[in-house]
Amino acid sequence: MYAATPNDTPWTVPALAQAKRDGRKLVMLTCYDAGFARTVDAAGIDLVLVGDSLGMVVQGHDSTLPVTVAHTAYHTRCVARGLSRALLVADLPFQADASVERALAASTELLQAGAAMVKLEGAAPHKLDVIRHLAQREIPVCAHLGLTPQSVLRLGGYKVQGREAEAANRLREDARAVAEAGADLLVLECVPTPLAESITRDSPIPTIGIGAGPHCDGQVLVLHDMLGLRSGHRRPRFVKDFLEEGGSVRGAMEAYADAVRSGKFPDAAHSYA
Ligand code: KIV
Repeated sequence: MYAATPNDTPWTVPALAQAKRDGRKLVMLTCYDAGFARTVDAAGIDLVLVGDSLGMVVQGHDSTLPVTVAHTAYHTRCVARGLSRALLVADLPFQADASVERALAASTELLQAGAAMVKLEGAAPHKLDVIRHLAQREIPVCAHLGLTPQSVLRLGGYKVQGREAEAANRLREDARAVAEAGADLLVLECVPTPLAESITRDSPIPTIGIGAGPHCDGQVLVLHDMLGLRSGHRRPRFVKDFLEEGGSVRGAMEAYADAVRSGKFPDAAHSYA
């Protein structure tokens, strides 16, 4: 099997930066419980995200907004029990990062639940303050730019971001700003391939794409999406059902990991031009 970390040791935050320097693609999947976490870990996935997508795929809501810190901490504890090698990232849910005090309290709870990093959406000035505040207090941070699902009400839906020149420049500046503030990782969601490619080239921290083309330093998918489970929503272009080619849950995860590492996924059919 592919040894994702040297000697197949558990992933660490510095190892992520080393992977970018070495040009090794990072493979990330969301996960919400211990059973799937064991399989994700055994399949050689590098990073596991307890995403606030749990509000949609587990709780059945229309958005991620109803998810609370208590929900995320519960699922983080469950997932942490199933992992021995993958690095665990937990989402700060809606408004848990509205102030540095709230973000520090929520992040502490999530790290104590077993996460090694917290993720937060956006690069508004107060979000940069939060990233700085957490980084200075030894809390690893993953930023999330492009389509930020917690902004769905203001965005008016789940749409590709950064298509116009002005929006693309703002995204480039935001990517620079989150790295300068101390983020260790950057998720880019629903961003045209050339823009994600140029952000990745300029970024000192690894980028993880979802609907952001093949040139990011890694990829993430929602577990339920890549297993072909229908959510009742229209399937986004970037989603691929790996269960079809993998033949089993573990096979699907291995097929996804192989496709990311070999550069076969995402192809043009699963990206935005
Ligand atoms: O909540 C989530 O699952 C996410 C991924 C889609 C990146 O943020």
